[in-house]
Amino acid sequence: MPQSQTGARVGSNDDVHLKVGVVGLGYVGLPLVVAFARAGAEVIALDTDIGKVEALNRGESYIEDVPSEVLGSLRGRIHATSRYARLARVDAVILCVPTPLTVNREPDLGALVSAAAALGEVLQPGQLVVLESTTYPGTTRERLVPILEESGLKAGRDFHVAFSPERIDPGRTDHTMRTTPKVLGGLTGECGARAEQLYGTICDEIVRVATPEVAEMTKLLENIFRSVNIALVNEMSMLCDRMGIDIWEVVDAASTKPYGFMRFDPGPGMGGHCLPVDPFYLTWKAREYDLATEFIELAGKINALMPEHCVARIEHALNDLRKPVNGTRILLLGMSYKAGVGDVRESPAIKIAEALQGLRAELSYHDRYVPDVPELGLRSVELEPALQDAELVVIVTAHPEIDYADVAGRAPAVLDFRGVLRSQPVGASARNSAVSS
Ligand SMILES: NC(=O)c1ccc[n+]([C@@H]2O[C@H](COP(=O)([O-])OP(=O)(O)OC[C@H]3O[C@@H](n4cnc5c(N)ncnc54)[C@H](O)[C@@H]3O)[C@@H](O)[C@H]2O)c1
Repeated sequence: MPQSQTGARVGSNDDVHLKVGVVGLGYVGLPLVVAFARAGAEVIALDTDIGKVEALNRGESYIEDVPSEVLGSLRGRIHATSRYARLARVDAVILCVPTPLTVNREPDLGALVSAAAALGEVLQPGQLVVLESTTYPGTTRERLVPILEESGLKAGRDFHVAFSPERIDPGRTDHTMRTTPKVLGGLTGECGARAEQLYGTICDEIVRVATPEVAEMTKLLENIFRSVNIALVNEMSMLCDRMGIDIWEVVDAASTKPYGFMRFDPGPGMGGHCLPVDPFYLTWKAREYDLATEFIELAGKINALMPEHCVARIEHALNDLRKPVNGTRILLLGMSYKAGVGDVRESPAIKIAEALQGLRAELSYHDRYVPDVPELGLRSVELEPALQDAELVVIVTAHPEIDYADVAGRAPAVLDFRGVLRSQPVGASARNSAVSS
């Protein structure tokens, strides 16, 4: 049976000896809490948001991927708190705090710095600290370690440190935390070994890399790869619109190539906490090395243009219907940044909605995952009556529960930014006159 770093045993579900602290209980932290509790560990789940702490202690989840019933079944193993002192008794602490950008689009490590400072005050010899938040290479060694060492303990000697990027994809069910290989890099060989032992309890495959910097850069490569490829297909989709070519048919056809091509779908732009943000952590760091990361900047620019392009397409669709935007009843379907989740951070749907409100459209939206959007002054409306009432329906985020063929059949005109209507007979009826090609 493996030993944890403080000598605690890590074993079957009946063998509850491993104690893990998770700091930051959002989309990344809460699934980790559940994974460790399921593996038999006792978990101290810490967040500065008292609302989240209280919800967890009531057994209520606020993340789609974590059903409340699962939390209920793990009662007794998960202890939510906002007190860092509770972390003094754990074997390992995993930091999953946000890493956003400042208004000047520079890394904002405020949450990480304050979490590290609070942790440093209770840090114990023998503990392992792992950073999972996405960040630029060097953060673990240059920012996290010095703060923790203010405790008087020395990293790599008195306590252990590693970086392990989170690869979670909210809403995805085909790959789980257990089946997704876990990349990690320790500050020393021993740090890496401790982290490997910890994650071995919840992941089937561990990919050890030489340093925290390699692990930090690995996560950025993964996200930048997506950002660049999404930008490429989005640029192609803008050109296809002008050329009257169906981008979805092109993507479908290219995807039949069994090698050398990976499918990316065009859309209304990039959203979420990761893709619009993370690449700029590297851009910022690259300046220190006198290198302009042009791919990253260009991809960000093209993806940021997409909501504007979508608004132009809405204006054209209404023009075909001989209607102005001003005063026309437009229903947006989907407000979150991706299907199956309620996360609206950086959502292109919000940017499109803001632009349409600026043009004085009579705007409404339906999204069962997003009950309201205070910044737009809107609440999600019931789908049925809204479909009858709208003059144009725009599919911005295609949540899985909606029958889009039915929507297209009943709405007076539909514009599809997600390609979910591409199997429909385009232009088959006057009612579909604005259906996306
Ligand atoms: N959401 C994703 O899909 C995803 C995927 C991979 C990596 N990441 C990365 O993981 C990190 C966390 O992302 P997330 O989506 O879970 O964020 P989130 O905003 O959903 O959750 C972060 C939590 O940290 C808490 N917090 C903030 N400051 C704190 C502090 N000082 N002490 C304790 N708790 C604090 C917040 O209250 C919040 O509950 C980010 O670096 C992100 O880039 C996110």
